[in-house]
Amino acid sequence: MAKIIAGMGTSHVPGVGAAMDNGKTDEAYWQPLFTGFAPLREWHKNNVPDVNIIVFNDHATSYSLDNYSTFTIGVGEEFTPADEGWGPRKVPQLKGHPELAWHLVESLMAEEFDMAVAASLEVDHGCTVPLSIAYDQPDEWPAAVIPLCVNVIQHPLPTALRCYKLGQAIGRAVASFPDDITVGIWGTGGLSHQLGGERAGVVNPEFDKRFLDNLTADPEANAHISHTEFIRDAGCEGIEMIMWNVMRGALNDKVNEIYRFYHIPVSATAYGAIILENNE
Ligand code: DHB
Ligand code: FE
Repeated sequence: MAKIIAGMGTSHVPGVGAAMDNGKTDEAYWQPLFTGFAPLREWHKNNVPDVNIIVFNDHATSYSLDNYSTFTIGVGEEFTPADEGWGPRKVPQLKGHPELAWHLVESLMAEEFDMAVAASLEVDHGCTVPLSIAYDQPDEWPAAVIPLCVNVIQHPLPTALRCYKLGQAIGRAVASFPDDITVGIWGTGGLSHQLGGERAGVVNPEFDKRFLDNLTADPEANAHISHTEFIRDAGCEGIEMIMWNVMRGALNDKVNEIYRFYHIPVSATAYGAIILENNE
């Protein structure tokens, strides 16, 4: 049977991808961040699964504000990096895993999660930057990818609790996939940040630390944070953290925290990353 080996949470700040694409990672501003990536990349090098389920959000790139779905699974053979205004990032195509993706669709629908299904999906920085953070600049991504897109852009958004329950259902779905493959699950976005408006620049290290602590030890607590609390305490775009709840829900109740990294600022954002392995 398929088996989830670990979960990763990471911010997806587009500037991180741009720093890599433009050879700026040794500059003083970026150097502490990439130093913090080193142990994370070492872990990923030693723990490549067959498939990564990447829970991410589109930033009105492939979707438009006139046409949004709450939860979408990509079931295609491959996915193309999107053009976000500067041409597509020169990173490898993402190879999909249609068999597991369709199994997820069917299992989740049977559990009353009404998933949208995308045969083709151009993926923006929400998906490609986490891949670059984990795997650097390979000629090919080392694992297949199932993109799972969550609407955190166009209100009304799914609740933090719904995201956690979706993750739990994904955990059950993977466990019932008959092939002996290994699976990673990634929650992306966050941590605290707000990009526009009067409160642009909000970061909240106390909120972020509590969220990361709870992710390991008390994930139910994170599942009961309201949208208002996220927006008030972690900024409008801090709401992206609900996607980490999908990742956490898919893991076992007990997990081992393998690595944590937190750094301010990265662009306007508090950067956070965590790796959690299932405790059998
Ligand atoms: C930034 C962060 C994001 O999550 C995003 O989607 C776009 C920009 C930033 O901090 O620059
Ligand atoms: Fe974002």
